[in-house]
Amino acid sequence: MKPKVLVTREIFDEVLELLRQHFEVSDNQGDAVWGPEDLAQRLADKDGVMTSIVDRIDAALLDRAPRLKVVANIAVGYNNIDVAECTRRGILVTNTPGVLDEATADFTWALILGAARRLTEAEAYLRGGQWKRWELKQLLGADVHGATLGIIGMGRIGQAVARRALGFDMQVLYWNRHRVAPEVERRCNATFVSKEELLARSDFVTLHCPYTPETHHLIGASELRKMKRTAILINAARGGVVDDAALVAALRDGTIAAAGLDVYENEPNLHPEFLRLKNVVLAPHIASATHSTRLNMAKKAALNLVAALTRGDPPDLVNPEAKRRG
Ligand code: DGY
Repeated sequence: MKPKVLVTREIFDEVLELLRQHFEVSDNQGDAVWGPEDLAQRLADKDGVMTSIVDRIDAALLDRAPRLKVVANIAVGYNNIDVAECTRRGILVTNTPGVLDEATADFTWALILGAARRLTEAEAYLRGGQWKRWELKQLLGADVHGATLGIIGMGRIGQAVARRALGFDMQVLYWNRHRVAPEVERRCNATFVSKEELLARSDFVTLHCPYTPETHHLIGASELRKMKRTAILINAARGGVVDDAALVAALRDGTIAAAGLDVYENEPNLHPEFLRLKNVVLAPHIASATHSTRLNMAKKAALNLVAALTRGDPPDLVNPEAKRRG
């Protein structure tokens, strides 16, 4: 008998086909909205599940999934999953690192450029019929070329963002839990500094760290006060890394100049004030959303599921300790 797996959201047909070669698959190609109870009922007899970042996998749900052996998240981030609880139960957790770095870095630059040059505000102005003539001082923005870029989180995505800064002749500062290898610093032309120095010197501060208890509100009111009044904050990492209420206040009172955001606390119910502010570029968590990247993410999650349920050895295992308990 084939193992039974659940796919919680709509995925690409070819990935579903791949899964069907190995498993008895329950899918959700209609992309119906499932609450915790729907998910629990569907997981009761499943060996594996392919999840998205909106599925909360916690102890209460795991209690109702006695056969579950693997949770394959279609994302590099996995803060939607209680990994410690999975580990305790010998359930493998996998993610999709690597395949979304470049698309996410590209989009980070869309936010940097869009926020610096007031692109969404300018488009709204034009679409709203306000553009009557060319003016010398119309919609003036900030220079990106030659500015200082501060990167918080210098993993694969942070590095991909830094490499793109070379083309804009920027000075790159970074802060990370650990200093990266000298050859990486050279390739990215990046200088390791303290968080305080980065905040004080950067014209653009961009976040590329995971959301963990340690990074919760890493940027709050006091950090925003340390930034330049002309600075722009970019978040394409995770909601919760920034204290959104503090950011709203800082954007409103001019503590910083602008922001470019792809992620929020309490998605998709973002802080309502963001919608009223002109000096923020907003996107609905789409940094990795190119066709090829999302397809590769789904394929990677499927291959993790196959490897986990056939060999017990998925390539992108987040909790190797779970194997000892399984
Ligand atoms: C991730 O992979 O963690 C993204 O946020 C989802 O695109």
